[in-house]
Amino acid sequence: MAEQESSPEEGSASSSVFLSLGPQCCMSTFSFNVTMSSAVVDQAADLVIELSSTPKTKLDEPAFGNVFTDHMLTIEWSASDGWQAPLIKPFGNLSLHPACSSLHYGIQLFEGLKAFRGDDNQLRLFRPMLNMNRMSNSAKRACLPAFDQSELLECIRRLVEIDQDWVPHSESASLYIRPTFLGTERSLGVKKPANALLYVILCRVGSYFNSETKGLSLWADPKYTRAWKGGTGNYKMGGNYGCSLLAQYEAEDHGCQQVLWLYGEDHQITEAGTMNIFLHWITEDGEEELATPPLDGIILPGVTRQSILELTRKWGEFKVTERYLTMSQLCSALKQLRVKEVFGSGTACMICPIGHIVYQGEVRERSRLMLTSRIAKELIDIQVGRNTHKHTQTHTHTHTHTHTQMFLHLSVTAG
Ligand SMILES: Cc1ncc(COP(=O)(O)O)c(C=O)c1O
Repeated sequence: MAEQESSPEEGSASSSVFLSLGPQCCMSTFSFNVTMSSAVVDQAADLVIELSSTPKTKLDEPAFGNVFTDHMLTIEWSASDGWQAPLIKPFGNLSLHPACSSLHYGIQLFEGLKAFRGDDNQLRLFRPMLNMNRMSNSAKRACLPAFDQSELLECIRRLVEIDQDWVPHSESASLYIRPTFLGTERSLGVKKPANALLYVILCRVGSYFNSETKGLSLWADPKYTRAWKGGTGNYKMGGNYGCSLLAQYEAEDHGCQQVLWLYGEDHQITEAGTMNIFLHWITEDGEEELATPPLDGIILPGVTRQSILELTRKWGEFKVTERYLTMSQLCSALKQLRVKEVFGSGTACMICPIGHIVYQGEVRERSRLMLTSRIAKELIDIQVGRNTHKHTQTHTHTHTHTHTQMFLHLSVTAG
C-alpha cells in the first residue's frame, strides 16, 4: 500500500490498495486488472443489489440535502475480514453502536460531486477521480482503511444508474453524490478503527449560480480560524465543518452570508465559506492576474478550483497564479480600483461572485460578473457535454479514466 499522499493527478493510477467487489476478494491482496474492460463487468456483477419497492415522488426543487433518492450504496470493512461485498439497497437509516468511533472522535470524512444530464440525455460525472483521490487522501489522514478508487467509482456509477430518473432534466439542476466514510468500531478507545463503513447517498439539487445575483457578502475577521498548518483543512473531514458553524452564525449577525477565512498575522485570505477563492485583478506591477491561494495544507484542493486554473491557463489571456494573498493587498487594490472580480468556487455553487467583504468594520465592495459568467458558461458546457473540451473523452466504464478527463460518461441510456 502506498504510504505517500497522492496528488489528484496520481489518483487514477492508484492500484496498490483495494476495495473488493466480491466476497471472494475481500483481502487487500486482490489486484484488479484495470486493462481489461470485461473485468469491470465481472467484478460489478458481484455487487449485491436490492431494489426499493416503494419509489419516492421526485420534487423539482427540494432544499439542498433534504430529499434523498430511492437507493444507497454501503460497503463494510473490518480489520479481520477486509472489504465486504458492496451492497446497493433501498435508502434507509444506519444502525450504529452508541460507542462507535465516528460519533465520539469524529473519525469520519466525506466527498461531494455531481451527476449531470446533458442535452443528449447522457448522464455525466464531472472529474470523479479527483474526488476519489481526495477521499483516499482524507482516509489516510483519518486512519481509515485504503480502498481502490476506481472500484468505488464503479459502484457509484451503478448506484447513479439505478437512480438515474432522479437526475434532473435541466442544466440548472443536478444529482449530488455524497460518499461518506465512518469509523464504526464499538469501542471508546482512541485508536485506528477496526471497523468502518463506506456509504454513498444521492440527492437532487438546484444550481447556485445566478448571474443576476449581486454577489455573496463575506465577513472577514481573524478571530476564527478554519484550518492551520499541520491540521486537517486540506482534507474533507466533518470536523472542519462542524467547528466552522459558530463563525458562520456570527457572519450572519454582521449582515453577511458567509465567512471569509483568514490565516496568520498578515490576515492571509484562504477560503470563502466552503469554497475556494479567486481574485481577478491588476497587480501592483500593472499585470492582469487571476490568483488563488496555494495548496499549502490549509486550503481544500477543490475540483472546481483545479478546473478553473486549468481552463484559464489554457485561455492564456492573463497570468494565472497560486500564491499568498492578504487582506491588506486586497484592500489597497480595491482602493486603487485594481480589482476586477472576486469569486468563490465549489461543486455546490460551481462559481459564485463575491459582492462585498466586511473587514475591520468597513464594507469593501466589488461586484462584476464578466469572468465569473464566462467560466460558469464554459464549465456548464463541459458538464452537460456540450463542449468537446480537448481534455474530454467518452468512456462507458471507469477503468480507462485518466486525470485529464473533464467528465466521465455514465453508460446510461436515459429514457
Ligand atoms: C472548505 C472547502 N473548500 C473548497 C471546496 C470546493 O471544493 P470542490 O470544488 O471540490 O467542490 C469545498 C467543497 O467541497 C469545501 O468544503
